[in-house]
Amino acid sequence: MPFQRFSEITPEILQLSERCLKNGKIDPGLYAKYDVKRGLRDLNGKGVLAGLTEIANVQAYDVVDGESVPCEGKLFYRGFNIADLVKGFLKDKRFGFEEATYLLLFGELPDERELKDFQALLANYRTLPTAFVRDIIMKAPSPDMMNTLARSVLTLYSYDENANDISIPNVLRQCLQLIALFPLISVYGYQAYRHYHDGQSLFIHMPQPDLSTAENILYCLRADSKYTELEAKILDLALVLHAEHGGGNNSTFTTHVVTSSGTDTYSAIAAALGSLKGPKHGGANIKVVKMFDDMKEHISDYGDEDAVKDYLKRLLHKEAFDNAGLIYGMGHAVYSLSDPRANIFKAFVESLSKEKGREDEFRLYSMVERLAPQVIAEERKIYKGVSANVDFYSGFVYSMLDLPTELFTPIFAIARISGWSAHRIEELANAGKIIRPAYKCIQEVREYTPLSER
Ligand SMILES: CC(C)(COP(=O)(O)OP(=O)(O)OC[C@H]1O[C@@H](n2cnc3c(N)ncnc32)[C@H](O)[C@@H]1OP(=O)(O)O)[C@@H](O)C(=O)NCCC(=O)NCCS
Repeated sequence: MPFQRFSEITPEILQLSERCLKNGKIDPGLYAKYDVKRGLRDLNGKGVLAGLTEIANVQAYDVVDGESVPCEGKLFYRGFNIADLVKGFLKDKRFGFEEATYLLLFGELPDERELKDFQALLANYRTLPTAFVRDIIMKAPSPDMMNTLARSVLTLYSYDENANDISIPNVLRQCLQLIALFPLISVYGYQAYRHYHDGQSLFIHMPQPDLSTAENILYCLRADSKYTELEAKILDLALVLHAEHGGGNNSTFTTHVVTSSGTDTYSAIAAALGSLKGPKHGGANIKVVKMFDDMKEHISDYGDEDAVKDYLKRLLHKEAFDNAGLIYGMGHAVYSLSDPRANIFKAFVESLSKEKGREDEFRLYSMVERLAPQVIAEERKIYKGVSANVDFYSGFVYSMLDLPTELFTPIFAIARISGWSAHRIEELANAGKIIRPAYKCIQEVREYTPLSER
């Protein structure tokens, strides 16, 4: 098949896909009839209990007089409120991501010595195998860095002499290497893409052992390796806020499911990356920024509340932007009144927008944050509240930090690999059963017809 025809949709494929749809639609009413929890969620949007974990808790309800009442969202890493963790490292003016990773993996806050040793351990592992950049990352550079990450992770399998060993020490070693390497693979993948697709100069900066993960991202990404303290601090904060979100989020659950089959670390993490890429999950932050770009193109006066509301309605009616019917950055599978990560972020967004002279845009974001829940509630059946999620502000923050949109979701992955690692180790340490739910088949049994009679 000639290469240029590789992506072509032929009339035959179109016809066959119509058949897929014709024979593939399931009446949504049947979910209620058979009491099947659609999306593994009950009618209030609450996830079906699928396991036990000690790693994180996502809290959206308080129990008052025995009743579940929606509350402001709270997130706990190993029992510690994320807001306290953030306050702690910001007050001491140190970076938080390595500390959060230590906590997630080992279940305890590190003391000074342990934190220093852990930072050194990660720095030691921040070296790709010889010629990996040339042989793997530079070859067939992808326009999507999540794809680059996933195939690089799968390829690392063949560089690992002990790839299949799922004993905890070996898996921990593999996970620490991946945590250390994700920033490099993402940034180098982006440099290769810029060079081959956009004709920009190619540079590959080596990471610095004494820099934090956030600093190394900026150091390797920028031609002059320069960044301000505020930029590194905000990127570090973003990494901390994205590092973990309980066992039920799509990519972490994927990690549990794939790990439970007894497969190797590279296969499990590549699967999690595939999940995170989706626009309903980690891919939402790019969508938010693109949605706002589209909104600004179509609304002449950002301050006109009616025009903004009208645009939001058109989004829900699939008449604007990507016609998906979604207002990106709004809503969450668990949180209702608020997403604590969005709240922590927002405090920084306002000051950063002042510093970068983008206050107008900040006002537009604030307006959409206020109007979107009303518009969604008017147009959809809402079981719990809808509010801004972490991705609503993260894309805006990254754009103010001059990070390319291609790296928005990889930054989520650079952070979330810590959570996936902790969950993979927890799944293996409790070596339970292979995860295997059931699907009710609603197709009637039919008599087979011989080919000559069809
Ligand atoms: C995250 C998300 C998938 C959660 O969906 P959910 O678990 O179904 O959330 P809820 O139960 O509160 O939703 C109730 C209804 O409102 C709709 N809704 C929620 N958020 C919405 C949004 N941002 N835009 C349009 N409709 C939305 C849901 O589709 C659902 O309608 P349906 O039953 O007809 O499908 C959804 O909010 C979404 O797609 N948001 C946009 C993408 C995004 O920002 N993702 C990042 C998450 S961190």
